[in-house]
Amino acid sequence: MPNTVIVGAQWGDEGKGKIIDVLTEDADVVVRYAGGNNAGHTVFVNGQKFVLHLVPSGILHKRKLCVIGNGVVVDPVGLVEEIQGLRKLGVRVDGNLVLSETAHIVLPYHRALDAQREALKGKNKIGTTRRGIGPAYADKAARVGLRVIDLMDAARFESKLRERIRENNGLLRALGAKPVPFKHVLGQYSAAAALLKPFVANTVQLLHKALRDGKSILFEGAQGTFLDIDHGTYPYVTSSNTTAGGACTGTGVPPNCIDRVVGVMKAYTTRVGEGPLPTEDAALGDLLHSLGREFGSTTGRPRRCGWFDAVVTRQAVMINGITELAVTNLDGLDTLPVIKVCIGYRHGKTKFDHVPSDTALLAQCEPVYAEFDGWQEPIGNARRWKDLPAKARAYLTAITDLTGAKLKIVSVGPDRRQTIFV
Ligand code: IMP
Repeated sequence: MPNTVIVGAQWGDEGKGKIIDVLTEDADVVVRYAGGNNAGHTVFVNGQKFVLHLVPSGILHKRKLCVIGNGVVVDPVGLVEEIQGLRKLGVRVDGNLVLSETAHIVLPYHRALDAQREALKGKNKIGTTRRGIGPAYADKAARVGLRVIDLMDAARFESKLRERIRENNGLLRALGAKPVPFKHVLGQYSAAAALLKPFVANTVQLLHKALRDGKSILFEGAQGTFLDIDHGTYPYVTSSNTTAGGACTGTGVPPNCIDRVVGVMKAYTTRVGEGPLPTEDAALGDLLHSLGREFGSTTGRPRRCGWFDAVVTRQAVMINGITELAVTNLDGLDTLPVIKVCIGYRHGKTKFDHVPSDTALLAQCEPVYAEFDGWQEPIGNARRWKDLPAKARAYLTAITDLTGAKLKIVSVGPDRRQTIFV
């Protein structure tokens, strides 16, 4: 398999976990390159549900090397819990999971700052997952972050942690939040460090050796294009480069080693947290929620839902260099008589065929819709393109044509087997 980046073409939760799981079959190495345990990748294997937050979804396949790259921010305690949870479910993690020694770590003061800043913002909050992701990346950029390599050196970790907790507790007090207890954090993180030690390596060297040995790499994106710190609907974004460019900086693999970019998008649109969602539609949200769909896998929050937005996905194709598309959750639209697709935006007399940079303006844009006939029959058992109803095929062809990349995969249900290769 060519070295492939998998990236979300909307606001995250596009169903990347399942697509990564399906494509892992043909890859040797799977590497996460951005984000932290704000991500929640859900995969069903033989009816068993797995939710992965930091460990690459490839772990559910035998004989695949899974790497948590340098661009990820790692909560060591959360990672230990995830590893132990996987072991309990009989998933092998020893010898096939590697953690970058230069990944930054998330500390309790990051989570406390995240929560307190959100609380103080009131109605202007971002709607973060409160996992401390923003403050951890802020420390990385400010060059005061602690890395996995620091965590592995007990004396260095203790001294750096003491100094960082002193400063951050001052900040927390000033913001009206409770300080974090140094001794408790030290104990908890030292215990996690001991358990994580066997997983830690220089992943840049390891990935380049894999490339020299002719192995293929799957780069597992987290979140989605419009949550990217540079290209998303700022400030309603996460704090990393979730777009395909992040695959290089977040792993140390250069751009000329990447052969293909696969964009994952739902057959409609969702987002969790605040910020503009031009095609948001309460009735569509009620329908999807009544089917038990569209609840966040990390926070359990109901996701906001809207119609497919081709303006957004076209821009995602452009920014990420997406050549192939995977459309997921098509079966969520099974019962609808009419399905809308946004083909442009209008703001007063101005028309937009791209996502405006001004987030406040985007929030005021009115979608311009095209309408499609629904297929109104269950499609979960379709396994080949020709098994899909003609109206479903017409809908898929239209949304992918509007987006400008080739349709390669259609997902008609959560299970691995509910996948159509076009
Ligand atoms: P943070 O990443 O926790 O700082 O949250 C920032 C924004 O990104 C919020 O709107 C979150 O809901 C959103 N977000 C973060 N991670 C995910 C994800 O994995 N899926 C969907 N949205 C996410």
